[in-house]
Amino acid sequence: MCFTNTLMACLLLLSFSLIISLSSGADTITANQSLSGDQTIISKDQNFELGFFKAGNSSNYYIGIWYKKVTTQTVAWVANRATPVSDRFSSELKIIDGNLVLLNELKSQIWSTEVNSSNSNSVICVLLDDGNLVLRDGLDSNESIWQSFDFPAHTWLPGAKLAYDNKTGIKKLLTSWKSAEDPAQGLFSLELDPIGRQYLIKWNKTTQYWTSGAWNERDKLFSLVPEMRLNYIYDFSYVSNENESYFTYSLYNPSIISRFIMDYSGQVKQLSWLDTTQQWNLFWSQPRQQCEVYDYCGAFGSCRQSGLPFCNCLTGFVPRSQSDWDLSDFSGGCVRITDLQCVRTSEKYGFLRISSSRANKPQNSTALAVGSAGECESSCMNNCTCNAYSYDNNECSIWDGELLDLIEDNNNEITVNVKVASKDLPSESKNNGVIIGAVVGSVAVVVLLVGVIWFLISRNRRRFIGKTAVEGSLVSFVYRDLQTATKNFSEKLGGGGFGSVFKGTLPDSSVVAVKKLESVTQGEKQFRTEVSTIGTIQHVNLVRLRGFCSEGNSKLLVYDYMPNGSLDAHLFSSVKLLDWKTRYQIALGTARGLVYLHEKCRDCIIHCDIKPENVLLDADLCPKVADFGLAKLVGRDFSRVLTTMRGTRGYLAPEWLSGVAITTKADVYSYGMMIFEFISGRRNSEQSEDGKNKFFPMQLANTLIDGGDILTLLDPRLQGEASLEELSKLCKVACWCIQDDEENRPAMSQVEQILDGVLDVNMPPKPQALQLFVDSNDDVVFFTESSTSQSSQPHSNPSSHVSQAKSAASL
Ligand SMILES: *[C@@H]1O[C@H](CO)[C@@H](O)[C@H](O)[C@H]1NC(C)=O
Ligand SMILES: *[C@@H]1O[C@H](CO)[C@@H](O)[C@H](O)[C@H]1NC(C)=O
Ligand SMILES: *[C@@H]1O[C@H](CO)[C@@H](O)[C@H](O)[C@H]1NC(C)=O
Ligand SMILES: *[C@@H]1O[C@H](CO)[C@@H](O)[C@H](O)[C@H]1NC(C)=O
Ligand SMILES: *[C@@H]1O[C@H](CO)[C@@H](O)[C@H](O)[C@H]1NC(C)=O
Ligand SMILES: *[C@@H]1O[C@H](CO)[C@@H](O)[C@H](O)[C@H]1NC(C)=O
Ligand SMILES: *[C@@H]1O[C@H](CO)[C@@H](O)[C@H](O)[C@H]1NC(C)=O
Ligand SMILES: *[C@@H]1O[C@H](CO)[C@@H](O)[C@H](O)[C@H]1NC(C)=O
Ligand SMILES: *[C@@H]1O[C@H](CO)[C@@H](O)[C@H](O)[C@H]1NC(C)=O
Repeated sequence: MCFTNTLMACLLLLSFSLIISLSSGADTITANQSLSGDQTIISKDQNFELGFFKAGNSSNYYIGIWYKKVTTQTVAWVANRATPVSDRFSSELKIIDGNLVLLNELKSQIWSTEVNSSNSNSVICVLLDDGNLVLRDGLDSNESIWQSFDFPAHTWLPGAKLAYDNKTGIKKLLTSWKSAEDPAQGLFSLELDPIGRQYLIKWNKTTQYWTSGAWNERDKLFSLVPEMRLNYIYDFSYVSNENESYFTYSLYNPSIISRFIMDYSGQVKQLSWLDTTQQWNLFWSQPRQQCEVYDYCGAFGSCRQSGLPFCNCLTGFVPRSQSDWDLSDFSGGCVRITDLQCVRTSEKYGFLRISSSRANKPQNSTALAVGSAGECESSCMNNCTCNAYSYDNNECSIWDGELLDLIEDNNNEITVNVKVASKDLPSESKNNGVIIGAVVGSVAVVVLLVGVIWFLISRNRRRFIGKTAVEGSLVSFVYRDLQTATKNFSEKLGGGGFGSVFKGTLPDSSVVAVKKLESVTQGEKQFRTEVSTIGTIQHVNLVRLRGFCSEGNSKLLVYDYMPNGSLDAHLFSSVKLLDWKTRYQIALGTARGLVYLHEKCRDCIIHCDIKPENVLLDADLCPKVADFGLAKLVGRDFSRVLTTMRGTRGYLAPEWLSGVAITTKADVYSYGMMIFEFISGRRNSEQSEDGKNKFFPMQLANTLIDGGDILTLLDPRLQGEASLEELSKLCKVACWCIQDDEENRPAMSQVEQILDGVLDVNMPPKPQALQLFVDSNDDVVFFTESSTSQSSQPHSNPSSHVSQAKSAASL
């Protein structure tokens, strides 16, 4: 009997599924159809696909919409975010009583569109080409009674609104996933603040930790996102009326695949799909520094901007949930291995010393009026509720309760002292650590330690004295020796995108420039490999790397010192006026250095940040290109480099913004922009006395093409003393280098040949992209150095400043 029943059920099910199976490639689910298992619907032009998916390695299935044309499955919307199913074949998505509903294995409804529609029999569900899933009343209707765009998950697609409903007070907001494998609502969300006309990122919908700044309708940008000026990919608009306020965008070029997400990292990100590399190319994210995300590492977690993973539990603590932690969901934070017994003796616990910076002090400290560091420590020691203290500038700060947002760095500006049970502390920070009965063990440890120390000392001595421990032709330096050579990093020469540079003198009295790298995320071995590659790149027009130092988190590079500093000081200020001949030689030398990087090295190197600051001058004013090869050292992956490190505004090729792959022609563009500055002796874009911005390349191109007098373009300080032939050559080369389409730009070797007089150049066409920086009043809408640094620096974090200045992006 039982058997027959089962068979009957099977047959019934089989016949049922025959009737309802979707024809493949359909974009619609009608009242008589259902979707289950591996069935999907696909939008008309094959942009999006809807069906069951599972995220990462989890065994849960969700109904979602993903990009059909993107080869790595990328989910843009999820229906049942918090209510997954485990068997997709026995679960069904179908229309019941005018609603799209999801039935689980037990046929109980676990998700629904929850609308009241009058004519429930004719309701259909259509997946549109913009990624919007809509319910319509009948095939002929184009009005939606429900749409997924009104219920965004973590992705904001072009055409959707992030809105505030002024009638109901309901916000349509983006909420992050919990982790890469769990699309349930995480703690981070992006919402519209209609009163401030701005976007806010909040933690747990309450604590705000980033804002876009107010919307500026005239300039079409948010006040704290000035890089939107460079945007010509996204057409944004802000609408506010008595019913609703919202922000929406479209793509000027609809063939680009681009998305805006609230990531589970707590950052908002804009990414574009690159067909050439088959990868999502990240080119904008906020907050820029991962550690700026509120509570990112949870209670008693420590965030390190320069390390991967970013979050670690402090010594003496373990993740509250190791499995969440492994999925980069750090929100649970860390818990003590050994609870503090609340007894007032100093023998049970000690303090863990953590180096941090003043600006990044953990949240919510209480000031205590005590006279000394010792008193501050004993106040914390003697108070059960105190978890940490810090004594800085004669001020004692105490943390009760959980310690949030501890950012570790090597700045040593302040020390945060965290109370930890003695037995969990590393031995050197214990107050008393002698355990009776372990004498023999201790002796063994001591012997071992002495051995290790002796080994380290002798190794270091060997390195230092003979500098014999070399990597290829590079010297491996000891940190302490570089500290001595630079007088404890006291004479700063400058700060670039990768870290600060200090002057130093080695024991053999040769002068060097020591660069302290920030945010190196590579492991020891990779770092050494990369550095030795850079070490093999030697050319008379490239700054020579002499050595490096890699000890723990300290990564330093040692270069030849260039007594005449960087080119910008000569061009834009009156250190020493460079005459025309010298300028021409510098242009030629720089071109030769780039030819070597692009074409003569074993692996072609794209510099990515050509500008006068990165061209150094030796004692004879011979130019040397600096900072090449570093992007790879510092970046997590290439796409990461694009957001934080890539070229500086004013020298950026348009392709940086359009999301296509970057080639050596991006350097050619930047080189061209720099040549304009050689000619004019001033920045390409600067504010004139009447407050208007002048964009020099535009003016030059116009003069050149209209056959005007190019001598009027020459740096007035040269008083017309220049070779007209060379000037004309440089003008044409500059114009040629900044052609919009990289195909139309010359290779650096061609530039070299033209400047050498081996190759002739015709008048190139006027670059159209320049037009984009100039609005109808001929005002330059291209923003200047000063306007960004004033408006966009809510926090004075030096490294975020650098990336701010360099981020080339658009919201
Ligand atoms: C659904 O099925 C019913 C009965 O089987 C039929 O009358 C109706 O036309 C079908 N509807 C659609 C949209 O195919
Ligand atoms: C899935 O598991 C494999 C093997 O354990 C691992 O290599 C991979 O990174 C995991 N994928 C994700 C998305 O976690
Ligand atoms: C749908 O109808 C029910 C009962 O009539 C009502 O309680 C509910 O508020 C309605 N929902 C919507 C979204 O209109
Ligand atoms: C809906 O369809 C009508 C005619 O069928 C058309 O005029 C109208 O523009 C359509 N509306 C939308 C939003 O597509
Ligand atoms: C988030 O806020 C809710 C109350 O709004 C609270 O119950 C919950 O514990 C908070 N989550 C965390 C991780 O603090
Ligand atoms: C929202 O509605 C209130 C009245 O309900 C009105 O005072 C306010 O101006 C409206 N907001 C906007 C942005 O129009
Ligand atoms: C606001 O809503 C009312 C009622 O739905 C509508 O009549 C009015 O046109 C709407 N206003 C705007 C600006 O859309
Ligand atoms: C820090 O202080 C703020 C405001 O007083 C409070 O809302 C928050 O919960 C506190 N955080 C912790 C971890 O105590
Ligand atoms: C311990 O610290 C808490 C919070 O700062 C304070 O309220 C309490 O009075 C302190 N207790 C002692 C014994 O100092």
